[in-house]
Amino acid sequence: MRTQDAARITKEVLIPEERLHQRIRELAQAISADYAGQDLLLVAILKGSVIFLSDLMRALTIPHQIDFMAVSSYGVGARASSGVVRIVMDLATNIEGRNVLIVEDIIDTGQTLDYITRILRERAPKSLRICTLLNKPSRREIEIPVDYVGFDIPNHYVFGFGLDVDEFYRELPYVAILKEGASAQAEE
Ligand code: PRP
Repeated sequence: MRTQDAARITKEVLIPEERLHQRIRELAQAISADYAGQDLLLVAILKGSVIFLSDLMRALTIPHQIDFMAVSSYGVGARASSGVVRIVMDLATNIEGRNVLIVEDIIDTGQTLDYITRILRERAPKSLRICTLLNKPSRREIEIPVDYVGFDIPNHYVFGFGLDVDEFYRELPYVAILKEGASAQAEE
């Protein structure tokens, strides 16, 4: 599936490239100020957060390390969270005593981060905060304290900038709203 095909499944562009870059620079400034002179480990939740992480970390002005964790809650073809979360890949880093900042692409029901934060808290980090590029407050089922939010967005299925449609289109440089009923598979 090619980037050029995105128009076929796009209802509208919700957040254009330049707004994303501007907002990520602002988030990076805030994080750099808040953690100045302190240890910082970014924990990115695969896969959706990879584009956000790579832009965010390059905009940070303080030393930091990164690690990854993969969990799964949406199956291919699913358009809503199943509410069932499982660890697919765990951290390589021991986070005991570390300042951990979770980096997410989107918070929807809150089920994923509720699960992840409960697991990570048991490992006794010095601090545990959350940074998400996108936030859908209207969909929340579990209250999650979010420390850094890029954009609060309405309840549409969004894709691009790391977010997928059936595992495709993560490479798009903007966040778009999916056309109703559209899928990544080409029409017959
Ligand atoms: C997305 C997103 C969050 C989760 C949010 O991941 O990256 O981890 O869903 O939904 P929730 O708040 O309702 O739990 P997804 O399962 O789509 O995996 P991906 O990042 O690999 O695309």
